[in-house]
Amino acid sequence: MTPDAVTPLRLAVLISGRGSNMLAIARACREGHIAADIVTVLSDVPGVAGLDAARELGLPVACIEGASFRAEGRFDKPAFEAALCAAIDASQPDLIVLAGFMRVLSPAFTARYAGRLLNIHPSLLPAYKGLHTHERVLEAGEHWHGVTVHYVTAELDGGPLLGQARVPVLPGDNVASLSARVQRQEHILFPLVIDWIARGRLRWNDGSPQFDGVTLTAPRHLEDASAG
Ligand code: GAR
Repeated sequence: MTPDAVTPLRLAVLISGRGSNMLAIARACREGHIAADIVTVLSDVPGVAGLDAARELGLPVACIEGASFRAEGRFDKPAFEAALCAAIDASQPDLIVLAGFMRVLSPAFTARYAGRLLNIHPSLLPAYKGLHTHERVLEAGEHWHGVTVHYVTAELDGGPLLGQARVPVLPGDNVASLSARVQRQEHILFPLVIDWIARGRLRWNDGSPQFDGVTLTAPRHLEDASAG
């Protein structure tokens, strides 16, 4: 099946920073490599490079500034998420893509978009959930590191794993060299997983995702995935 043979999936892409994954997805959409279109780019941080880059591509952008929901040291998460949901829903996306969106979302939010919410995480989940994954991998002396794309559920970095790409940790690596190696894989893996969903190869199936009709018992690895 070619990309034109399926209705493009409408993507809302949520970012908090540089937006290199958003740009990789945008490029894959524009070049017809994946059957999807970005219909909105939303950031919770104003002035980030990803917002400028999305604007330059002519994509609709908006900022739901997290900091503006903080008063007297308290973050009004329900109000922030209500504003975020309104912005997401206004663009009528099929899929909501967390591409470096650095906020922990409430169970109400993840339930609202169950089966339509994807995240990319810079580790081989379930290893190294949470922040500072590259530092922790280096400190632990691991030989392998990588990236995972998964459906988002209420459990932080804990939803069903869909795709993974591994990279070696090389002698002399530091956080910059290792994260750059991981990011090169992120930019291949994330568009690929989105395309699987767009073509109906990957289905949520009430939280037991299936790939080509077979229940996924482990994430698909990039090297196998690109072969088939
Ligand atoms: C990516 O490396 C992504 O894996 C990570 O943030 C970075 C965003 O980069 N996500 C997380 O850490 C989520 N817990 P980008 O803004 O250049 O796409």
